[in-house]
Amino acid sequence: MSDATRREFVAGLGRSGVALAAGSWLGAMGYAQTRGPARAVLQASRYRADLDRRLLGAFLEHLGRAVYTGVYEPGSPLADAAGFRKDVLAEVKGLEVPIMRYPGGNFVSGYNWLDGVGPKDKRPTVLERAWNSLETNQFGTNEFIDWCRKVGTEPLLGFNLGTGTPEQAVAYVEYCNVDKGTKWSDLRREHGYEAPHDVRYWCLGNEMDGPWQMGTMTAREYGRKARDAARQIRVLDPRLQLIACGSSNTILPTYLVWDREVLEECYDQVDGISLHNYYGNTPALTGNDSARYLAMNLDMERQIQEIGAVCDYVQGLRKSPKRLWLSFDEWNVWYRARGGLFANGQRKFAPKLLEEVYNLEDALLVGGFMNSLLRQAERVRVGCLAQIVNVIAPLMTNEKSVLRQSIFYPYAWGLKYARGRVLDVRVESETYPIKAEGLRPDFARDDRVPYVDLVATLDPANGQLCLLMLNRDLQGERPLVLDFRELGPTRILASETLTGADLKAANTFEKPDLVAPRPLDVPRPGSTMTFKLPARSYSVVHMATS
Ligand code: AHR
Repeated sequence: MSDATRREFVAGLGRSGVALAAGSWLGAMGYAQTRGPARAVLQASRYRADLDRRLLGAFLEHLGRAVYTGVYEPGSPLADAAGFRKDVLAEVKGLEVPIMRYPGGNFVSGYNWLDGVGPKDKRPTVLERAWNSLETNQFGTNEFIDWCRKVGTEPLLGFNLGTGTPEQAVAYVEYCNVDKGTKWSDLRREHGYEAPHDVRYWCLGNEMDGPWQMGTMTAREYGRKARDAARQIRVLDPRLQLIACGSSNTILPTYLVWDREVLEECYDQVDGISLHNYYGNTPALTGNDSARYLAMNLDMERQIQEIGAVCDYVQGLRKSPKRLWLSFDEWNVWYRARGGLFANGQRKFAPKLLEEVYNLEDALLVGGFMNSLLRQAERVRVGCLAQIVNVIAPLMTNEKSVLRQSIFYPYAWGLKYARGRVLDVRVESETYPIKAEGLRPDFARDDRVPYVDLVATLDPANGQLCLLMLNRDLQGERPLVLDFRELGPTRILASETLTGADLKAANTFEKPDLVAPRPLDVPRPGSTMTFKLPARSYSVVHMATS
C-alpha cells in the first residue's frame, strides 16, 4: 500500500468512534460503534474472499409439494413435455441459482435411490417415513439432473447414510459418474443416459446428529461410516467434493462436540462439513422483538465462526495441510409452519407441508443472511437456502401460477449482483442493545447490534460494484457514508429497496406485490457517497466503477 493510501485508510478507520464492548463478537465481523451517520471505507485491494457463487445455492427435497406440483406436475397446462412446471423453471433459471441440493433433507435418510430410476411404470410407490407421505418415485435422480440442466444449476446430491449403507452410496456415485463398463454405470445407460452426470459435490447423509433422523447415531459411529463411504467413493473419483454432516443446529446438546468427534474420525476423507439452522421471531428466540429478530444473521455468523474453529482445531490435532470449508446447506426463516400437521403428510401424496408464508421482516432478515454468508465467503464455500419452492421457499405455486414470496427479492439480488470479490469492509454504525434475558441459550446475548449492515462485492472482470445494505432501524432512515479508495463509482446500474410500513405484510396470489422492490434514491456517483437507507429496509445498489 502506498503511504498516501495507507494514511487515508488509517484516517478512515480513525473515525471509528467508540469500540464495541470487549467480549462482543461483532468486532471480529468488522463492526465498530460510532455516533452519527454510519460510515465505511471501500478499497478495491482490500478484499475478504473471491466469491464462489455456490455460496448462494438452494435446496429441493422430496417433501410436501416441493417436487410434486412444485417443479414437477405432468398433466398440468403449465408443464413442459417432461412434466416440469415451466413457470417455476423460468423463475429458478432467472435467479441463476448456482447449485441445488437434492433429494433431502430428512427424506434422504430413508431413500432408496434405485426406486427413483428406470422405467416410470416400474417404479414403486413407497411410504416415506420422514414426512409420513406417499412417494411415487415418478421424479428421481435422472429427472432431477434433467431439470438442473434446463435450469442451469449444478446438482449437489446427498445419499442415505441413515438406513442406507456405504455400499449403496458408492453404487449411487458409480451410477451417476462412471462412464461405462460397470454394473451401475451400465444401468444408467440402460435408463437412457449415456453420458455420466458428473456430479461433483456430495453430502454424506443428512443431520445424522438429530434424534428425528432415520438411522441417527453417535458422532463416532457416523464419523466412521462417513469415512468408510468417502474412502470407497474416492476410489471411483478422488476429486469429488465430499461434505460431512455437521451439527443440525446450535441448540442440540451435542453442538460442536458432534463436529469435533465426527471430524476426528473422518477429517482426512472429507472436504467440507455442513451447518444448518432455521430462525424465527418467537418468544424463545427473540422475545417476539423484531429488532432482535433482524440481528439474527449475526447469530448465523457466530455459528460459522464456531464451526470453523472446530475444523481448525481438528486440523491442528491431525497436523493436516488440508483446511476444511463449510457448507451452510440449510438455512432460512422457519417457525410458523412447523411441527404437528405441518410436518405430517398423513400418508398422502404431495401434501401441503411446511408452507411457510413470508412477510417483510422475514425478507429483511434473509437480506441479513445474504450479507452474513457473503461476509464469511472465505470460509463458507457452499450455501443452500432451504428450500426453493412451496416448502419454506421463496416461490409458491398453485394450479395456475407461481408467486414470489417476500424473501425472493433479497435472495435474487444477491444472486444477480454479488460477483467477483467480497470487499473487506469495516462498518462503523450506531448500535442498539439486545438482551439475553428469557431467550433460548444459543440466542441469549447481551450485546449491541449495529443499525446498518453492509456488504460489498467488486467484480474485477468488469469493475462492477454491488452494495447490499440492511437498515435494522425500525423507526427511522439511516444515512450511510461510503468513501471509495482505488475505485471510482461512475454510473448507477441499479438501485432498489425493500421496505414498508407493515413488517408483517406478506404477498398473496391475490396481492402478489405487497412486498416488492421499489426504486431507491441514490446520490450522484463520486468518491464519497451518502446513501439514505429507509427505515426497516434492505437495499441493493449496483454501480459501474473506473
Ligand atoms: O428443510 C426441512 C428439514 O429441515 C430438512 O428435511 C431437514 O434436514 C431439516 O431438519
